[in-house]
Amino acid sequence: MDRRSFVKKGALGIAAASLVRPLMAGEANAETQHKPAEKTFVARFKPIMISTWSHGLEANKAGWEVLAKGGTSLDAVEAGARQTEADVSNRSVGIGGMPDKEGHVTLDACIMDWESNCGSVGYLEGIAHPISVARHIMENTPHVMLVGAGAKKYAMQHKFERIKTPIPEVKMAWKEWKKEQEAIAKKPVINHENHDTIGLLAMDSSGRISGACTTSGWAYKLPGRLGDSPIIGAGLFVDQEVGGAVATGLGESIIKIAGSHTVVELMRNGFTPEEACKEAVNRLIRKHKDMTGLQCGFIAINTEGKVGGYSVFNGFNYALRTEQEEQLVDAPFDRSW
Ligand code: GLY
Repeated sequence: MDRRSFVKKGALGIAAASLVRPLMAGEANAETQHKPAEKTFVARFKPIMISTWSHGLEANKAGWEVLAKGGTSLDAVEAGARQTEADVSNRSVGIGGMPDKEGHVTLDACIMDWESNCGSVGYLEGIAHPISVARHIMENTPHVMLVGAGAKKYAMQHKFERIKTPIPEVKMAWKEWKKEQEAIAKKPVINHENHDTIGLLAMDSSGRISGACTTSGWAYKLPGRLGDSPIIGAGLFVDQEVGGAVATGLGESIIKIAGSHTVVELMRNGFTPEEACKEAVNRLIRKHKDMTGLQCGFIAINTEGKVGGYSVFNGFNYALRTEQEEQLVDAPFDRSW
């Protein structure tokens, strides 16, 4: 797209976005600006939820229980993320997650709502639900992000459920890996089997959009490493004027382009969710000479409830849940492995 048509599309996009933005009853405008705005959303939207990878199907089920009862998108994405965090068979999220190089399972998560409230936790060990700790930080502290020992202390002070990690199977796999590896972690092959984050986006019946993501990160990472998932703007971004996006894949590459924020800003400028994800993927590719193991995908939703996704390599999919359908969607991609 040339600059001229981008600007033109952008202008249309902004106009369209402001037309479809969820209305708040009594919201101030030219006629009502003398009245105080009530922050009550009008319930007239069809709920929708999307989550990365096939583990997103079960996560969406948990989130849908909230949305179907008229609950908020924030409660829905938290419920979905908690479902995956509790799944002992999942090797990239929560209790069953893979450890760092020294055998410690350290978890990252973040959450963001329609009012741009956000919370994040990084490098958290031994706590079952990092997503709920992130939400607690968002709702009860003046901060956005807590990491490491401070985050653990916070979680324990607030009596969050504790877990013992790594679980025995994962510990065994780590010991095997350790035997084979002398040096620091090499770039992994990233696919659904050995990696990745769950990212979730939901719109509730009042049109409110929220997002969450949670991960154990890059298996056998260097101790202290954080990926994109706890970083607002990289792993997740929501702006109720436009929509939301979440990322999955090699966190280092996603951070380099402030991935999820980039997707949202592209939608602000008139791109559809899929076009925005595709352009972010193209930007990411342009920034990398070495494409080895560089799988990365985005999913996005706009305020009209339109969704889309795109990935660098084939194999990325996302789970979609609406009143009518529950399915796994293969995302379009730039190149094949
Ligand atoms: N996308 C998850 C990570 O890189 O940690």
